[in-house]
Amino acid sequence: MAATNPAAEKDDKEEHKRLARFVKGVHADLRKKFKANNGDYAKIWDDHCQNKEVLAQYADAMHHLALDHWSKKPESRIDWCRDTSLEFFHHGGLKQALEKDARKNKYRSKDEKAADGTQVQLGVKEEEQEQTQPRTKTQVDPWNFSYNKISLPFSGKIRLLDVGSCYNPFEQFEEFLAIGIDISPAKPSVYHCDFLHLEMTDPLQVAMDTLDTYVSNLKDPIERLPRQIFHVVVFSLLLEYLPSAYQRWLCCQKAHSLLMLNGLLLIVTPDSHQQHRNAAMMKSWRVAIESMGFLRWRYIKLDHIHCMAFRKVEKPDSGDCLLEGVSPDMLHIPQDYNNASLETSIFSHSMPFSTEDEDFFRQSLHELPHIASEDEDFL
Ligand SMILES: C[S@@+](CC[C@H](N)C(=O)[O-])C[C@H]1O[C@@H](n2cnc3c(N)ncnc32)[C@H](O)[C@@H]1O
Repeated sequence: MAATNPAAEKDDKEEHKRLARFVKGVHADLRKKFKANNGDYAKIWDDHCQNKEVLAQYADAMHHLALDHWSKKPESRIDWCRDTSLEFFHHGGLKQALEKDARKNKYRSKDEKAADGTQVQLGVKEEEQEQTQPRTKTQVDPWNFSYNKISLPFSGKIRLLDVGSCYNPFEQFEEFLAIGIDISPAKPSVYHCDFLHLEMTDPLQVAMDTLDTYVSNLKDPIERLPRQIFHVVVFSLLLEYLPSAYQRWLCCQKAHSLLMLNGLLLIVTPDSHQQHRNAAMMKSWRVAIESMGFLRWRYIKLDHIHCMAFRKVEKPDSGDCLLEGVSPDMLHIPQDYNNASLETSIFSHSMPFSTEDEDFFRQSLHELPHIASEDEDFL
């Protein structure tokens, strides 16, 4: 809603502050309860999901913030997710990634041959030798077809699961078969679903159009989904809602299960600082997420957000064990360590927020240039 005169601008700004404070306050309140209960995230979370009044207010506030205040920049987080998906599936991204895999596999298999004493036949071209020798596990052709793997050429719609969708921002794009899920949907087209409690069932071994039909006929609420069914899973401003690093970890693991091989996990997380300020945190996220069987394909820091795209690859051979040096705590956010948020409540508007907590404000304030400078003191 564009403000047309100074009085309307002022009202717009006040309304905007009120909504952003409410949203931030819900996050802070969850973290406060989580810390006060010695990290018993399950109980805190279940109580939170029962609090329908707060959830409904949050959905309404977030919907208005996103549509009336945060959508004024040319490139929003939603545009980034869309453009990245299209580049990956339709404009050469996946092709390049598969070519890179093939090159790596070739080098790896050469090393394996050297290690197991296999002679490289002199005078015979490498490709010819490969044809005459049995394939090892690492030589599996990454281009070949299988039901639960995305191969090229890509055709049809991109099946996209938007977790914590709120208002279903991807349903407007015809390239996607977009499924929005949320604990508290702001629109009827979003399914009720707590991703943390979502059950995984066996993959469907059926043709692509049957998968589309399945996804198009889901029933509300969604309590279970088959593994390996989506091309893209989106976490846009989702992970920082969750008070514990372990819950963020669970979400990433679930995304891995739901994605087809070569599918993309897109993560958008707010941060108004310069790229280097939270570089260590981003590195830590990368190591943790890659350890689950992803490879980071794209990373960009925009003004107020980090945007990451991870491609699902084969899970490392560690079974269910964590890789050495990796733990769920690696998916931390600055607010996890900040005591200011302990004193913050959604009902107390005078309490101090941490700098990091201000990201919800900054993102939107900077997207409204006419009020940004005036509000710097407020931040
Ligand atoms: C900050 S909002 C982001 C909304 C939207 N993705 C966007 O980028 O504007 C976070 C959303 O995640 C939802 N959410 C949080 N935890 C969830 C969970 N476990 N399962 C499903 N939705 C969840 C919240 O209800 C809220 O709508």
